Amino acid sequence: MKLLIHKTAAIIATLCVITFLLSTIISELFFNTEVIAQVKRLIVMPGLIILIPAIALTGATGFSMAQNAKGGLIGKKRKRMPFIGANGVLILVPSAIILNHWASIGQFDMTFYLIQCLEIFAGAINITLMSLNIRDGRKMTGKVRSGA
Ligand code: HEM
Repeated sequence: MKLLIHKTAAIIATLCVITFLLSTIISELFFNTEVIAQVKRLIVMPGLIILIPAIALTGATGFSMAQNAKGGLIGKKRKRMPFIGANGVLILVPSAIILNHWASIGQFDMTFYLIQCLEIFAGAINITLMSLNIRDGRKMTGKVRSGA
């Protein structure tokens, strides 16, 4: 049951970050500021309302299943989690909120795009770390071979 919750929450959280990143890049490359502002709004609500509990549940169930195990693949997953969390709490969530605010008042200036670049960079890092955790999780449950 814990594994099922972990797996589901992990996939939801990863898909959220991928969706936020893709919708941000696509809206900013191909659409007008109204669409960009709409995307920013949706990332905060319902986006963050889905992402935050999903990532918290992923971490909580992961650590609970791992208990005291620290070596091998568990150890690697364990080490990645604080980076995923810190990246989310310190960069992704605050920048989603501030970018939504600026977009809602039509402030698309240099600072907006600087924070936007930072958010895209942090999002890409989290997608990479989360994908590595999915890969290692699948190795641990025997869904994929661990590779020699
Ligand atoms: C965002 C972070 C994480 C993601 C995306 C993630 C993803 C996954 C996935 C998809 C599986 C199931 C694979 C499958 O059966 O197909 C899994 C299993 C597992 N994960 Fe995570 N995980 C994350 C964080 C963690 C953390 C922090 C820990 C604990 C240190 C952890 C411990 C485990 C354990 C113990 C299993 C089950 C292994 C087994 O039953 O043999 N995970 N993970």
